[in-house]
Amino acid sequence: MNDLEALKTATDADLAAATDLRAWDAVRIAVLGRNGSLTGLLRDLGKTPPEQRKDRGAALNRLKDVLTAAIEARKITLEDAALDVRLLSERIDPTLPPRPRETGLIHPIARTMEEIAAIFGAMGCTVVDGPDVESDWFNFGALNIPAHHPARADHDTFYLPPRDGAAPPVLRTHTSPGQIRTMLAQEPPIRVIVTGRTYRADHDATHSPMFHQCEGLVIDRGLTLGHLKGCLIDFLRTFFAISDLPVRFRSSYFPFTEPSMEVDIGWNRKTGELGRGGDWLEILGSGMVHPRVLANCGIDPREWQGFAWGMGVERVTMLKHGMADLRPFYESDLRWLKHYGFNPLAPTMLHEGV
Ligand code: DAH
Repeated sequence: MNDLEALKTATDADLAAATDLRAWDAVRIAVLGRNGSLTGLLRDLGKTPPEQRKDRGAALNRLKDVLTAAIEARKITLEDAALDVRLLSERIDPTLPPRPRETGLIHPIARTMEEIAAIFGAMGCTVVDGPDVESDWFNFGALNIPAHHPARADHDTFYLPPRDGAAPPVLRTHTSPGQIRTMLAQEPPIRVIVTGRTYRADHDATHSPMFHQCEGLVIDRGLTLGHLKGCLIDFLRTFFAISDLPVRFRSSYFPFTEPSMEVDIGWNRKTGELGRGGDWLEILGSGMVHPRVLANCGIDPREWQGFAWGMGVERVTMLKHGMADLRPFYESDLRWLKHYGFNPLAPTMLHEGV
C-alpha cells in the first residue's frame, strides 16, 4: 500500500468513526485543512523528483476529489440522522386538545371612540389629541369663559399648583380646548374631532371624576346652522343605527357658541328604547363658534364661520348598549369586560351608513 492508499484507508476509517457533525468536522480539517494531511502531501509535491512529479500530481488530485466526495457524503448521512432524531423527538400528537387562546377584547369606551372617528372620518374629519393638563386660558379663557364667569362653576374643576405666577393649570374639564389648539395650529378650512379624557370633581352612578368626551369643530366659509344640523343628524342616526331616529335641536347657552343648541334624541323613558316612545333625551351640546373664540385664535370671523359640538362618550355608550351604571367602565372587572367588550377583529362598518 503506498502512502496515498494509506491516507484513503485511514480517512475512511476516521469518517466512519465520526458519529456526529462535530467529529466529522475534525476529520475534514485533519485531511483538507490548512495543516491537513492531504494539503501537506500537495505542498510537498515540489520535492518529488521531476520525472515522477506529473504522475504524483495527477494521483494526488484524484485522491483529493475522492476524499472531498467521501467527506461530503458522510456529512449528508450525519445530517439526515440528526434530522431523524429530531423528527422522532418532536412528533406531533394530533389527538391532544388545543390549548386555550386568550384573546383580548376592545373596551366599550374605546370602541365608541373608534365608531365616532369612523363616522366623522367619512365626513372628512381627522382626529386630533390634546393634553389632559391644560392651561386656564385654553380650557376657559380662549373659549370665552373669563375668570368668575358662572359657567366655571358648572365645571367642578380640578386645579393644579400654579406655575410661574400664571393662573393654575387644570385637568381639562372638556375637550373644547382641543378646538383652540387646532385653530392655532391649522389654517382654515378645518374639520376635526377631539376625543379623550376629561375631568370634573363629580362622582355618582352617572358621573365619574374622569370621563371621556368627543368634540367636533368645522371651520369654513359660508357655514350655517343647517350644516351643523345635517351633520349631527347624520351622525346620530348612523351611530345608533336607527335610520329614522328623531332628533330635536333646542336653543341653549354655551359661552363659546352663539347661537347654541342642545341636541335631544327620541326615546321611551320607561323602557329605555331609543327611536320611539315620545320622550326626549339630551345627548350633546353644539352651536356656531362664537366670533370672539375665532378672533382669540387669529381667525377673522367676518371671513370664516364655524360650528362645534361636544358630547360624553360614556353616556352614548351606555345608551347604545343598554348599560345602567357608569362605574363598571373603570373597574377592570374581567366578567364585565368579557360581557361588554368587543371582538378586536370585528370591523366598525358604521361609516357605510344605515
Ligand atoms: N364643552 C361642553 C361641555 O363640556 C360641550 C360642548 C357644547 C362642546 C357646545 C361644544 C359646543 O363644542 O359647541 O359641556
